[in-house]
Amino acid sequence: MAKAKTVFVCQNCGNESPKWEGKCYACGEWNTFVEETKITGKAKNSRPGTVLAERTKPMPVSKVSVEEMPRLSTGNEELNRVLGGGLVPGAMVLIGGEPGIGKSTLVLQTALNLPNVKVLYVSGEESPQQIKLRADRISGASADNCHVVSEVSVEHIIKHIENEQPDVLVIDSVQTLETERIESAPGSVSQIRECTATILRVCKDKHIPVFLIGHITKEGSLAGPKVLEHMVDVVLQFEGDRHHMYRILRSIKNRFGSTNEIGIFEMLGSGLREVSNPSELLLATQQKQMSGVAISAALEGVRPFLIEVQALASTAAYQNPQRSVTGFDLRRLNMLLAVLEKRAGFKLAQKDVFLNIAGGLKVNDPAIDLAVITSVLSSNMDMTISPDICMTGEVGLSGEIRPVTRLDQRIGEAAKLGFKSIIIPSYVKGVELNKYDIQVIKANKIEEAFKFLFA
Ligand code: TYD
Ligand code: MG
Repeated sequence: MAKAKTVFVCQNCGNESPKWEGKCYACGEWNTFVEETKITGKAKNSRPGTVLAERTKPMPVSKVSVEEMPRLSTGNEELNRVLGGGLVPGAMVLIGGEPGIGKSTLVLQTALNLPNVKVLYVSGEESPQQIKLRADRISGASADNCHVVSEVSVEHIIKHIENEQPDVLVIDSVQTLETERIESAPGSVSQIRECTATILRVCKDKHIPVFLIGHITKEGSLAGPKVLEHMVDVVLQFEGDRHHMYRILRSIKNRFGSTNEIGIFEMLGSGLREVSNPSELLLATQQKQMSGVAISAALEGVRPFLIEVQALASTAAYQNPQRSVTGFDLRRLNMLLAVLEKRAGFKLAQKDVFLNIAGGLKVNDPAIDLAVITSVLSSNMDMTISPDICMTGEVGLSGEIRPVTRLDQRIGEAAKLGFKSIIIPSYVKGVELNKYDIQVIKANKIEEAFKFLFA
């Protein structure tokens, strides 16, 4: 017999406890326990969609045939790249991101552009009319093979899957799903876990790839992150600044490909445009020579691109000097400013410093350190850096310029875009420098770079 039991579940990690706790001892988060009802006993075994007959015998891994697993191209180069070459049958792809960043747009656009593939788009957030309005905005789409339905109940969704027999399923979003077998509210960890597991089972059995959209919590993680990330095959994060046009789709977990890949998109009035040449982020904003601007040969994932770093150093208006960053780590900036004070006589305590990475992108590559530090100095001295020069290098605490990964790709990209010189770390191994049509300047310390730039 099915019995209902109440437990307290941590909404961050899914840890269960018989009584309420202020702090979760498993993940260390505070105030995350919520009371949820669990059904135990027989009812649990009567899961819909379980096909026992399909469970096959164990066999040697060398005998497993992979031929019947052709990847389905999504018709979108950037998305294909991030997925590792297309959709794998039966794969569950979780797409996370902040509200309004464009998750629904990305997935709907992909669904509309899939030729001869039947897509079932289940939305728990929007009505079919709203989806239609969105589809009308997206240009160049044929909407005949995309069927939309507004539904939140997992039991009904499974019925729809059985009736429609789609080739691709889209769920927007996982937080709206609910199953009758659990009493807690939609969006709670037990609901998310149970609903995802149910859909996963059905779709794995039928080899239907699924795009699952998930929201991100205030703290910046996917709601119920640990439980979901373990279950799905691919986790993609859609990020960017809502006030800028550029969006990055980053692969966080991928059972079928590399997690080094990123896809870059631009949000237009008519949907998302693929950005196949990321350096256009920089070139679009390039202006006349100005102080406080430095160009860095950066790398996101495995793709090199050039990006503009802008800094403004001005006399501090208040006793505590202000530091403000967009797209860069504030603590890292503070460290670089301290290096600058020690090495170049920059008066840290008397200056406000504002730093901005062009295009609203967040760059995690430490190789932009050198551009950050030189842009601050350039603004502080009000001396321009020639727009023909770019640079790459991580800056260490004693002002040394440290080696960076994939140096040859960075130099190659700079040469391709017509830069005349590039400043690189002096430690170079296995890179043929005269292969490229660009002057390469090796610098060991930031002073050497400054001498070249401002002499
Ligand atoms: P949306 O995909 O609904 O975001 P999410 O599902 O992640 O919450 O849409 C995000 C924003 O994109 C919305 O503010 C409107 C804008 N947008 C465009 O700029 N162009 C378009 O073609 C579409 C469909 C939306
Ligand atoms: Mg949405």
